[in-house]
Amino acid sequence: MDFTLNGQRVSIDDAHSDTPLLYILRNDFQLNGPKFGCGIGECGACTINIDGVAARSCSVPVHTVAGRQVTTLEGLAGDDGLHPVQQGFIDEQAAQCGYCTNGMIMTLVALFRRNPQASGQQIKNELAFNLCRCGTHLEILRAAQKARD
Ligand code: FES
Repeated sequence: MDFTLNGQRVSIDDAHSDTPLLYILRNDFQLNGPKFGCGIGECGACTINIDGVAARSCSVPVHTVAGRQVTTLEGLAGDDGLHPVQQGFIDEQAAQCGYCTNGMIMTLVALFRRNPQASGQQIKNELAFNLCRCGTHLEILRAAQKARD
């Protein structure tokens, strides 16, 4: 089966069609942006975008992305530099251990794609199911607001 990964067409052996997308991304394509946290769709560390929508790659069998566009953290930056959400995280020093950062960024990128002027409350609601154990929530929210503005 084929899908598009960060702008490039890729192929996966059909024998792996039920493998979680997260494992394929990390093990077959060496994309370590998406993290393995809980493995059951609850922490958000593995978040990627599928056709521009945030999804938890630990809970997505790879066959479900056949023919679709998958974007990981590694695919966000363009010729003109980092994505504004990535830059916001750097500017606001919004990472402590950094394990949740991928999921926070990929969730926000999808939010701003469908709602570029998302309110502070909408940002909070969107991130409610992305867990951060370090407690850097205020910096993360500032980074999100900076990226939006
Ligand atoms: Fe996928 Fe936690 S590792 S949601």
